[in-house]
Amino acid sequence: MQNANQAKFQQLQSLREEALKLGGEARIAAQHKKGKLTARERLDLLLDKGSFQEIGMFVKHQCSNFGMSEQRYLGDGVITGFGTINGRTVYVFSQDFTVFGGSLSGANAAKICKIMDLAMKNGCPIIGLNDSGGARIQEGVDSLGGYADIFLRNTLASGVVPQISAILGPCAGGAVYSPAITDFILMAKNTSYMFVTGPNVVKTVTHEEVSFEELGGAETHATKSGVAHFACENEVEVIETIKKLLSYMPQNCEDRPADIAEVPPLPNAGETLDNIIPDSPNKPYSMREVIANLVDGGEFLEVQKDFAESIVIGFARLGGMSVGIVANEPSGLAGVLGIKSSRKAARFVRFCDCFNIPLLTLVDVPGFLPGTDQEWGGIIVHGAKLLYAFAEATVPKITVITRKAYGGAYDVMNSKHIRGDFNFAWPTAEIAVMGAQGAAEIIFKKEIDAAPDKDAELKKKTEEFERLFANPYLAAEKGYIDEVIYPRETRERLIRAFRAIKYKVDTNPRKKHGNIPL
Ligand code: HXC
Repeated sequence: MQNANQAKFQQLQSLREEALKLGGEARIAAQHKKGKLTARERLDLLLDKGSFQEIGMFVKHQCSNFGMSEQRYLGDGVITGFGTINGRTVYVFSQDFTVFGGSLSGANAAKICKIMDLAMKNGCPIIGLNDSGGARIQEGVDSLGGYADIFLRNTLASGVVPQISAILGPCAGGAVYSPAITDFILMAKNTSYMFVTGPNVVKTVTHEEVSFEELGGAETHATKSGVAHFACENEVEVIETIKKLLSYMPQNCEDRPADIAEVPPLPNAGETLDNIIPDSPNKPYSMREVIANLVDGGEFLEVQKDFAESIVIGFARLGGMSVGIVANEPSGLAGVLGIKSSRKAARFVRFCDCFNIPLLTLVDVPGFLPGTDQEWGGIIVHGAKLLYAFAEATVPKITVITRKAYGGAYDVMNSKHIRGDFNFAWPTAEIAVMGAQGAAEIIFKKEIDAAPDKDAELKKKTEEFERLFANPYLAAEKGYIDEVIYPRETRERLIRAFRAIKYKVDTNPRKKHGNIPL
């Protein structure tokens, strides 16, 4: 028997089919020709098979300017909804460049806001796949208002649910500010770019000739500005990285990251760590190698890996527990703290603290970077960001000093004094106000100047200082270091310690919000 509603069902079916056609075959082909996927293909890759539930498939714009009434596409240039990634619910929007270049209309912004509101109410991450020509030019202020509606929600959601932005095409003008407020930005090399003003405006205003890629491509933002946390080879890599990134995070600020089964460390990890610190304090070694030999399976998801080379940040697991790692890198500018490295690490520490991800800090730092460049660039406030971020963080915090911890940088790098829960040091640690030679030159200046052989006297005094201060035991005597440990036992110690403080409760004084030195 014919169902009485057959015709109505048929209508729904054809509307759905129409929506799936996006902006039409020719525009889809043009998208593919640029090496880009369509908005729906991206969602298929991102979400568990068959899990996507679309919301707002039939939304159309309401604009009648410039003949727009004749061009009304179902969905209006953005696909929105929710789905799962490895079984966890996430809310998503995926801008569709095949409809008005994915530009943001009032209706399109309302769709994005709707799913952001749902994500907030339900405590789920928000993932935005951006590919858009910016404000829908025909709509004027409705479009600008739409952006502001999104910016407001990005800000309110910050620290409540994780927000991840993939940049998979153009992202220009004010449109860059939504991704900038989110927690992580991933870009695809050669097909995506972000800038406040494009090359043409740059040429008019500053007379600089610069290409799209050079001004705001993935490599530029991953190496020069630090705006992008990941520069991936292609869109598929972007999507895979989002999934990996998400695995270290909880759903929201009330939740904890999920534990998984412990994976053993790399073969001979302990022996490698025992032999990693060179004889000379001036010789570099790789802190990334230390990390690889400490964590489960040697697996480390490094964030901003090509920006601010003197500090390393990223996610790993210890005994199956998710941890955020901040580590000075002696093989990059001797691990010194500068403007870029302080900013990079501070934002990461705050992310981990927002989302209950315990922090492991590995310290080998000769101090802050000197020079007019740094001072005039405001190293004082930028360095203070990192100090502030570590000090206010209430997540479980463990520090291991592998070698140098000099001067103010000792305090900053999650010292005991700013609420480190367990502060360990290797026997190779040197905790002092400054390096031995610099210290000897200052405090023994008179003796050195008066000596017949100044160099020999300096050497003698440097050695004297080293004997006294270039070790972890003075700090351990005072309880600033909880325990001096062998490199080979560090992993086991960390796992036990992180388990012991897993349910730590610590709070900050009641306030509206702090005033981090921005
Ligand atoms: C309406 C747009 C559009 C826009 C692109 N299209 N951008 N429609 N509003 N902002 C349409 C095009 O008309 C075209 O339609 C289709 O999208 C594809 O665009 P193409 O130019 O053919 O593509 P391509 O050569 O790849 O160039 C992409 C582009 C370029 C670089 C993004 O389209 C461009 O420069 N667009 C304008 C960018 C811009 O200035 N936006 C405003 C920024 S200011 P058809 O029908 O031919 O397929 C801003 C303010 C935000 O965003 C403020 C927030 C506070």
